[in-house]
Amino acid sequence: MNAHPRTIVVIGAGYVGLVTAAGLAAAGHRIRLVERAPGRLATLRAGRIPLHEDGLQAVFDAAVVEGRLEILDTPPTEAPDLVLICVGTPIDNDGVSDLNQLRSALVDVGPLVADGTTLVIRSTLPVGMTRMIATEARVPTARTFTNPEFLRQGTALDDFRTPSRAVVGRFADADPDALAVVVDTLVPASVPTLVVDVAEAEIIKNGANAFLALKLSFTNELAGLCERYGADADIVLDGIGRDPRIGSTYLRPSFGFGGSCLPKELRTVAAAGEQVGLPMHVTQAVSEANASHQRRFVERIAGAAGGLQGRRVAVLGLAFKAGTDDIRSSPAMNVVRLLSEAGAAVVAHDPEASANAARELPGLSIAATPLEAMRGADVAVIATEWPVYRDLDWAAAMEAMAHAVVVDGRRLLDPVLMTALGFDHRALGSPDPRPVVSERAG
Ligand SMILES: NC(=O)c1ccc[n+]([C@@H]2O[C@H](COP(=O)([O-])OP(=O)(O)OC[C@H]3O[C@@H](n4cnc5c(N)ncnc54)[C@H](O)[C@@H]3O)[C@@H](O)[C@H]2O)c1
Repeated sequence: MNAHPRTIVVIGAGYVGLVTAAGLAAAGHRIRLVERAPGRLATLRAGRIPLHEDGLQAVFDAAVVEGRLEILDTPPTEAPDLVLICVGTPIDNDGVSDLNQLRSALVDVGPLVADGTTLVIRSTLPVGMTRMIATEARVPTARTFTNPEFLRQGTALDDFRTPSRAVVGRFADADPDALAVVVDTLVPASVPTLVVDVAEAEIIKNGANAFLALKLSFTNELAGLCERYGADADIVLDGIGRDPRIGSTYLRPSFGFGGSCLPKELRTVAAAGEQVGLPMHVTQAVSEANASHQRRFVERIAGAAGGLQGRRVAVLGLAFKAGTDDIRSSPAMNVVRLLSEAGAAVVAHDPEASANAARELPGLSIAATPLEAMRGADVAVIATEWPVYRDLDWAAAMEAMAHAVVVDGRRLLDPVLMTALGFDHRALGSPDPRPVVSERAG
C-alpha cells in the first residue's frame, strides 16, 4: 500500500468504511470520509468513533491530527483519485436485499465518476447485482471495480492491514491504468491478489461467508451430539480439526452465528440459486440449523433452571461476538427474545453493546455490571465470549445469585473451577454434569 499517496473519498462511516478510511489514512493517503446519518456524523465530528472496534479510535485520532482524515456530510465537488463505496447492503426480514444505500451513494458520487474518478465498491453485493447496479447507475464499467472487504469485527484493523487475500472484481472492458491504481492503493504489498470478473468476486465474497457459516453450523450440530452422547466437544473437535483437509478454525461451538454478514450472505447465496432455478439445499439448511441452535440452547437453559416461567435469567453478553458492540442478527439477542417470550425475567449485561441493545429492545432490563445482572438470578447464561466474564469473581457471583447455576453457551468458563466453586455449570457441547434439576424451589 502507499506506493503513491492518493486522495480518496470513502462513502459510509460504518464498520467497514471507518476501518478503510482510518487504515488508508495511516498508510499515507488523504481521506475524505462521507457519512450521512446525523448521529454518526455528529459523533465523528466530535472526534469519537461511533462504534466499538479495538485500536480504531487511536488510528482515527492520529489521522485527524495529521490532517489526513476529514469528515464530510456530502461528497466533495473536486474529483479525487478514487471513490470507495462502503455503505450497508442489508437484507429485510424476508431475506430480500435492500440496495437503497448503494443506489443513493452512486447517485451522490455520480458527478465525481463522470469527471474521471475511479469507483470501487467495497460493500458486499449479492451475486449478480454488481452488473445490474452498474448498468442502472450508468457508471463507466471501465473505471468501476469491486474490492470486497473480508475484515472481521473485533480484529478489523489487523484484517484490513494484512488480509489473507485481496479480491478485485473488474468488468471485461476494465481500464488497465485504473486497475493498477486500485491494486496499488488498496492492496498491501505481498498480499495474494486475485483480479477476477465482478461476478466471480461476488461469488467469492458471498460464498466464503456462506461456507464459514456452514462450518459453524455443522460444528454446533456436532456439539449437540456431544451433549447427548456424553462426549466433550473440545476433544471431539480437536480430533476432527487435526485433519488438515478440515482445519481447526471455525470449529468452536456456540448456539449460533450472527452479525451483519454471515446470516445475510447465506440468504443471498440461496436467493441467487433460486433465481436461476438452482436448488440450494445446503445453503438453505444452514440458515434453518442456525435458528434451531438458539431454540435448543434456550431449552437447555430451561432444563437448568427448572423451567423459564417466572425464572430470573442473567444473560451475559448481547453483542454477536466479543470485541464489537454490534448486535445485528446477534444470537444472544435472539436468546433474550426467546427467554422473554417463555416468561423468564431477563436481566442482561454487555460491556459494549448495551446502548445498541437498549435501542433494539427498549423494554429489556440491562444492568451496569455483570454482578448486578446476576443478583437474585436463578441461572446465569454466558451468551458472548467477552473475557471479562471469564475473569469475573465467580465466588462473589455465587453469593449474589439465588441459585448457583451457569449455562455457558460459549465454553468460556473453566468447568473444573466452576464446579469446585460449587456451581452447577453446564457448557454447550458437554453433557450435563448431573441429572437435570426440575423441582427447583420458587
Ligand atoms: N461489518 C463487517 O464486519 C463487514 C465485513 C465485510 C464486509 N462488510 C460489508 O461492508 C458493507 C458495510 O458494512 P458495515 O457493517 O460497515 O455497515 P454499516 O451499516 O455499519 O455502515 C454503513 C454506513 O454507511 C452510511 N451511509 C449509507 N448511505 C450513505 C450515503 N449515501 N452517503 C454516506 N453515508 C452513507 C450509513 O449511515 C452507515 O453509517 C456491507 O455491504 C457489508 O456487508 C461488512
